[in-house]
Amino acid sequence: MSQIRNIVILTGAGVSAESGIDTFRTAGGLWERYKPEDVATPEAFARDPDLVLGFYDMRRAAIQEKQPNAAHLALGRLDAEWSGDLLIVTQNIDDLHERGGARRMLHMHGEHLNAWCTACDQRSPWTGPLIDRPACPRCGESALRPDVVWFGEMPYRMDAIYAALRAADLFVSIGTSGAVYPAAGFVRGARDLGVRTLELNLEPSQGSSWFHESRLGPATEIVPAWVEEILA
Ligand code: OAD
Ligand code: ZN
Repeated sequence: MSQIRNIVILTGAGVSAESGIDTFRTAGGLWERYKPEDVATPEAFARDPDLVLGFYDMRRAAIQEKQPNAAHLALGRLDAEWSGDLLIVTQNIDDLHERGGARRMLHMHGEHLNAWCTACDQRSPWTGPLIDRPACPRCGESALRPDVVWFGEMPYRMDAIYAALRAADLFVSIGTSGAVYPAAGFVRGARDLGVRTLELNLEPSQGSSWFHESRLGPATEIVPAWVEEILA
């Protein structure tokens, strides 16, 4: 692996599963209990804001009781020790990568622990509920929504992600089903750019055949093993 300098990592719900945070599409996942079109679209928020705010309030409270697992910690170690470029792009809206020590990262689907004011556009750190319509710390309007990307909205920081992919030697996808675009398309984009691609997942994802290599197993085992290997 000596020729690898620049790495882009994409993570999904599978990296947080062993911390006790629900995934979406696996058996018993969130999208079995809720319909995405009821809780994760701008139209749902316009139609039934209490349902949407309540759903995110519940999850915002839940993540604050969870702890980063060995996969988050291994990626934090990689960030600290890797001398080449690194970008960890997460689809997760929890903060477990940060608490696992990762710094060179971005949240393409937003963050539970931010509230976004639709009146003044300010984003504010937020740990409490939004359902009681608290005032925006900046403008005072009761117009806060979760700072998360809903279906039909544009993911964040796409320019930065594609710039990192263009400079990458290795693309690693961890714990994501490959069902949601544009993230699901990164592997093909990477291959078109001549980047080596590796999948680490519990089971083959929808885009598994696009990867040069797939390693299957729980994230808390296969991610630390891969980090150990690449740092060696
Ligand atoms: P999914 O729930 O679709 O997929 C989770 C993936 O993690 C599956 O491929 C599982 O096999 C794998 N997995 C489960 N447990 C694992 C473990 N212990 N170790 C390793 N892998 C494991 O979640 P995402 O792919 O993250 O978007 O979903 C993508 C997006 O769809 C989310 O960001 C969210 C959702 O709708 C929005 O809400 C916009
Ligand atoms: Zn405001």
